[in-house]
Amino acid sequence: MDPSPRDELLQLIRDLGGQLAWQRDAGLLELPSQGALPAAAPPPAVAPPPAAATVVAAPTPVAPPMASPVASPVAPPAPAVISVLPAPVLVAAAPPGAVAAIAEVAVTAGAVLDRVGALRVIQDEVRGCRACKLAPTRTQTVFARGNPDARLCFIGEGPGADEDRTGLPFVGLAGQLLDRIIAAMRLTEEQVYIANIVKCRPPNNRVPDHEEMSACTPFLLRQLEVVKPEVIVALGKTATGFLLDSKGSMGSMRGRWHSWKGVPVMPTWHPSYVLRVRDDPKSTARAEVWTDMKLVLERLGLPVPAPRG
Ligand code: URA
Repeated sequence: MDPSPRDELLQLIRDLGGQLAWQRDAGLLELPSQGALPAAAPPPAVAPPPAAATVVAAPTPVAPPMASPVASPVAPPAPAVISVLPAPVLVAAAPPGAVAAIAEVAVTAGAVLDRVGALRVIQDEVRGCRACKLAPTRTQTVFARGNPDARLCFIGEGPGADEDRTGLPFVGLAGQLLDRIIAAMRLTEEQVYIANIVKCRPPNNRVPDHEEMSACTPFLLRQLEVVKPEVIVALGKTATGFLLDSKGSMGSMRGRWHSWKGVPVMPTWHPSYVLRVRDDPKSTARAEVWTDMKLVLERLGLPVPAPRG
């Protein structure tokens, strides 16, 4: 198996440690004794994971084929090897590409942290929002779950009872089906971002009305502008109708690519609908959702899992 970009980067950092150790022992560098490098000049391969690795250990933005989890918004302390050496020495000692790779990771990590911060601002506004008649009846607002750095977003309609109770989208029965769909795509929650058209539960799970959607969707638009997904899956008619400004039926919209501000949108059946029709032997909804998700994987350049057994 090919090493992941993160492993490659860590190897580069280890190589850098080895080179620095060699230069120090050759009297070319002065390093403090508590530095992160091995005492002698052992082959880089046996160097312990150097403290330098921690500089990239927080978010791992270049790791998996999809986006990586945002491990922590708090940056770890700078490693000694980075902090004690002037940049020109590091640059001179680094193997080709290492500094550029570290810089790229730092920039990407910074961008992820920016996204987390920007989303937190929006989430705080959502928490305080009383712009429509859903506010007095909610237990709490429901913002999003998943990874703000994800390439793929799922957009649903609005929270139900379970979401209103937990504050997280798609955690009830429909959410469990959505999680199974994501797992069948060989993806995890860390590789997707999940949100809704409205952030408060409509009473009795009715469809949000025009006034509620107008009050709430600016939040979703801002979320999408921060996350910048490469592909959006619109779950059901409410999300599809809003994102594509269309009144078309799901049957006519799903299974084809559409566009929201240049981002490809794949409408598909809402998981609640798939659950509702699951006992109807004539229903093709479940199979059609999978057809649509295969198109999504292809569009993202990800492998399409073979059907099971
Ligand atoms: N249905 C939705 O559209 N969103 C949720 O969060 C849960 C159920």
